[in-house]
Amino acid sequence: MTSPDLPAELKAAIDGKLRGFSRSDAAARAASISKTYRDGGGSGTIRSEADALAYALARMPATYAAVTASLNALVEIRPDFAPKSLLDVGAGPGTATWAAAEAFPSLQDFTLLDANDALRTLALDLARDSTRLRGIGYERGEARTALAKADAADLVVASYMIGETGEAEQRALAELMWAMTTDTLLVVEPGTPAGYGRIIALREQLIAQGARVAAPCPHDGKCPLQAPDWCHFTQRLQRSRAHKQVKGAEVPFEDERFAYVALTRAAVARRPSRVLAQPAVSKVEVAAKLCTPEGLSFTKVPRRAKEDYASARRWRWGDAVS
Ligand SMILES: C[S@@+](CC[C@H](N)C(=O)[O-])C[C@H]1O[C@@H](n2cnc3c(N)ncnc32)[C@H](O)[C@@H]1O
Repeated sequence: MTSPDLPAELKAAIDGKLRGFSRSDAAARAASISKTYRDGGGSGTIRSEADALAYALARMPATYAAVTASLNALVEIRPDFAPKSLLDVGAGPGTATWAAAEAFPSLQDFTLLDANDALRTLALDLARDSTRLRGIGYERGEARTALAKADAADLVVASYMIGETGEAEQRALAELMWAMTTDTLLVVEPGTPAGYGRIIALREQLIAQGARVAAPCPHDGKCPLQAPDWCHFTQRLQRSRAHKQVKGAEVPFEDERFAYVALTRAAVARRPSRVLAQPAVSKVEVAAKLCTPEGLSFTKVPRRAKEDYASARRWRWGDAVS
C-alpha cells in the first residue's frame, strides 16, 4: 500500500519553491481559488506562479491522497497490473503522476497534459530534480486536442478534472480517454453528490463500450445507491506546517472525501464487496454497509460468529472485503 502522504522528493521540491514566498499571500490566493471551486468555477483563476504554488500547497496533498487511495484499491484488485506508460489528463501540478509513480515502480513513460500554463510550469519545476520524473513530457493544450495527439497509455488518469468541463464535453472526453487507454482508466472526483454523479455517468457510458470495473464496484451493473445517498470514500492525510498556514487550520490532518472509478480492458478475477461507510462496531455485532456483487447489503456480523466478527472489526470504509 502506498502512503497517502506526499513523497519526500515532492515535499522537498515544494519546500524549495516556498523559500521567499509569503505564506499570508499564499493563504489569500488559496482561499480565493477554493471559493471559485466552491462556487462551481474551475482552475481558470490560477494564472501566475504564485497562484499555482498556492493551489499546490492547499490542494495537492489532498488530491494526491485521494488518487493514492484509488490506486491502492486498484492494485489490491489487480496485483499483477504493471503499467509502463501513464497519461495524466488535466494534470495540473502533476499530482496524479507523482501518485502513480509511487504506486507503480513499473512506470517508465509519463505524459501529462493541461491547458493551464502556470500549473504546467510548476509541475515541470517540481519534477526537475526527481530521479523518476525529470523526463516527463508535458503537453500544453485543451484536453481533447492534446489527447488526440498523444500516444495511448497503459494507465490513463483524470484527477479532479472532468468536473471542470460541461456535460457534453465530459462524454466526448470519456470516450477519447477510453480510446487512449490500453489497460486501465482511473477517474477521481470530489466526494460530493455532483462528483459521484459524474463518475456514475462516465462509468455507465464506458461499460456500454466494453469497460469492466476494477474498483470500487464489485460488479458492472447499475449502481444500487439511490439519491440522496451517493458512493464516496474518505482518506486522511497529514498537514505540514505550510499546509496548515495556507489553510488557516490548527488540526494537523484533514480528511479528503472523493469518488472514483477504475475501468479496465482486462478480465477482473477478484470482485470482493466494498465497504461503503465506516462500520459500526459494538460488543454485540459489526454492522456494515456493503456493495456486493448482488447489490447493496446492510450486513450484521454477530459476535458469536467469532472469526467473522474478529475480521469484520478490522473493516474500514473503502476496504474490499469477502
Ligand atoms: C482541479 S485541477 C486538478 C489538477 C490535478 N489533476 C490534481 O489532481 O491536482 C483541474 C485541472 O484540469 C485542467 N483542465 C480542466 N479542463 C481542461 C481542459 N478542457 N483541457 C485541459 N485541461 C483542463 C485545469 O487546467 C486544471 O489543471
